[in-house]
Amino acid sequence: MGGNSEETYEEIVRGRKSIRGFLDKPVPQELLQEIVELACRAPSSFNNQCWHFTVVTGDPLDDIRQGNTEGILAGKPDSREFRKGGEIAEAHRHRQIEVAKQLFGEMEIARDDKEGRQDWVMRGFRQFDAPVSVVVSYDKELVGSDIAPFDCGAVTNALVNAAWSRGLGCVINSQGIMQSPVVREHAGIPDEEVIMICVAMGFPDPDFPANRVYTNRKPLEDTVRFVGF
Ligand SMILES: Cc1cc2nc3c(=O)[nH]c(=O)nc-3n(C[C@H](O)[C@H](O)[C@H](O)COP(=O)(O)O)c2cc1C
Repeated sequence: MGGNSEETYEEIVRGRKSIRGFLDKPVPQELLQEIVELACRAPSSFNNQCWHFTVVTGDPLDDIRQGNTEGILAGKPDSREFRKGGEIAEAHRHRQIEVAKQLFGEMEIARDDKEGRQDWVMRGFRQFDAPVSVVVSYDKELVGSDIAPFDCGAVTNALVNAAWSRGLGCVINSQGIMQSPVVREHAGIPDEEVIMICVAMGFPDPDFPANRVYTNRKPLEDTVRFVGF
């Protein structure tokens, strides 16, 4: 499971999927450096490259997992540093349910299995116990500009594809930064940066059931409009 650098762009893009179960195997720093360097070829507005990556492993990552989980269980409010908008619209909610059904189906977590569901949510808060977490942040002076999160999205997509092309799996994970002050403290993110998202990363566990999930995409006719053809 996972791509390799011999694959074509199309094979990487079509082959990539979110990975939520990882081998207990360290990821070499040189490999992570190579992936980040490749991801940074992403375009950005005026080439501003407002992004920063903080690549965390070992004890600091365990401290983040623990602090995030404890904060949530203690009822501390969600402190993610992006706007979340209001209620999720029906069409979007429908897709969210579809993914959950796929994941719970593969994990054999029944609808009424409250414990199993809670365990799954807790895994998310622990960044699925991945050996590495890449925290994506951007320069605070750009706060309020929608372009900065847009650029972070572009580079994060490039990051997950670059990782896949080197045999690593990822899940972009916003559950893992619910308690952003904990992430800031243990990852040493400067106050001059806004925490955007984190990406859990590692070698995929080929036997982890949820890693079999391959999500659908809405039909092309609902996605694209061609004008003037
Ligand atoms: C901004 C963002 C946040 C996400 N947060 C989570 C998360 O907290 N937990 C999770 O399990 N997946 C998370 N995902 C992964 C999505 O569920 C996944 O990308 C989507 O279902 C499409 O599946 P695919 O990545 O396998 O193509 C996130 C993805 C994005 C882009």
